[in-house]
Amino acid sequence: MATKTKRDYRLTGVDEGVVPLDDERIEDRVEETWWHPNISRAELKALMQRSDAPALMHFGLWIALLIVSGYAAVLSWGTWWAIPAFLIYGTIYSSSDARWHECGHGTPFKTRWLNEIFYHLSSFMTLREAFLWRWSHARHHTHTIVVGLDPEIQVMRPADLVKIALDFFDLRSGPPEVWRIIRHAFGKPNADVRNFVPEQERWKMYWSSRVYVAIIGGFALWSLAIGSFLPMMFVALPRFYGGWLHQLLGLTQHAGLKENIFDHRQNTRTVYVNPVFRYLYMNMNYHLEHHSIPMVPYHALPRLHAAIKDQTPTPYPNLWAVYKEMIPALIKQATENPDYHIVRDLPSTSSAATVIEQQPEVTTPLEQPLVETTESVAREWVEACAVADLGEHDVIGFTHDGKLYAVYRLQGDQFYASDGICTHEKAELAGGLVIDGCIECPRHNGRFDVTNGKATKAPARKPLTTYHAERCGDKVFIYI
Ligand code: FES
Repeated sequence: MATKTKRDYRLTGVDEGVVPLDDERIEDRVEETWWHPNISRAELKALMQRSDAPALMHFGLWIALLIVSGYAAVLSWGTWWAIPAFLIYGTIYSSSDARWHECGHGTPFKTRWLNEIFYHLSSFMTLREAFLWRWSHARHHTHTIVVGLDPEIQVMRPADLVKIALDFFDLRSGPPEVWRIIRHAFGKPNADVRNFVPEQERWKMYWSSRVYVAIIGGFALWSLAIGSFLPMMFVALPRFYGGWLHQLLGLTQHAGLKENIFDHRQNTRTVYVNPVFRYLYMNMNYHLEHHSIPMVPYHALPRLHAAIKDQTPTPYPNLWAVYKEMIPALIKQATENPDYHIVRDLPSTSSAATVIEQQPEVTTPLEQPLVETTESVAREWVEACAVADLGEHDVIGFTHDGKLYAVYRLQGDQFYASDGICTHEKAELAGGLVIDGCIECPRHNGRFDVTNGKATKAPARKPLTTYHAERCGDKVFIYI
């Protein structure tokens, strides 16, 4: 029998309490080259498009369901009908977790403030403080189930089966999360949180936590004042008594799969589920697709799945198929061998091609000066691409002298250029999406204004270096 060695899942490991890791040190620790599906840039761009209409209908229905089920629950209070009524209300309420997740990526709505409103609302509902979890989730995508780097590993090894069972009602993960919110309301983050939330951003987390504490405290006082816990049945508590579906679906994402591998086909699952669950879970059952390309909004994930499924393991046909394989694996991890994991069969046709189409390196010198100026200035202009290569609101990458740049086109002949690598965690921006005059990074959906390089959406913070770009004939040049 193998020894049950406990892994060290702390983000700070042996350095705890000494020096929080900064971005550079994290990059040093893990040289990650994640597998990317082979898909054309044109197809990917179509899949990444945002639109408010589907999300407005989706969220409108969700709020209507909350109101109707909540009203039925009030009417049933004091009768046995309250049990099914609150179970339904709590299940819909707890599906706020999927909405927190999607809005955190900023992909459901095209309009940014709509994403933000629903992000903060659903973060509160699912008891994940919004600013903390934005940073946490960025780290999860960078280091998906990498021990000591991913703060969101749901099933650590040796697997704790009691915790897994209790979390069907959020009883093991929920209370520490509430305690963490209270700690943050007093400005006291622990070492792990200090590790992934930048110091300059923590004040937002503190204030947001105070608002959460004030609202939940207000409902608790209301319950005390009227001598009934009915008010609490509508805020905070539903995340516990209605949490079963979140746990049932959430476990399918990564539990029992391989840790420390840079291939989402081995550490993330896709499973087919019924339309009701898909709606409540916002298509996150296509989790392998989501992790491979997080910029694709929830409603386009089935299409992404169809486009790349010949490169990925066979999806599980239903939840039963997942649990039939996963439960014995978790028992084995808990009782015999923490190193045991499920291995997914990869299709023989699969490739490790990158999403980003490589652009040929441009070395041809200018045959004619782009601007009427001195020769020495003209030599600084570099041909980046053909005008025809860039549609409106598009981006393309190119390499010059071994350095990667990104060239953007907004409307007409509005061309811009910047460094090609995101300042957050080194993703290639040419694989991203141009939206509202910004480039959205393909890795964590951070954004930069393409006209001046300013970081406009977390987790991007440091600005991008930008370059002057101009059209000359049918070519685009950038001034380096
Ligand atoms: S790598 Fe994180 S936002 Fe770009």
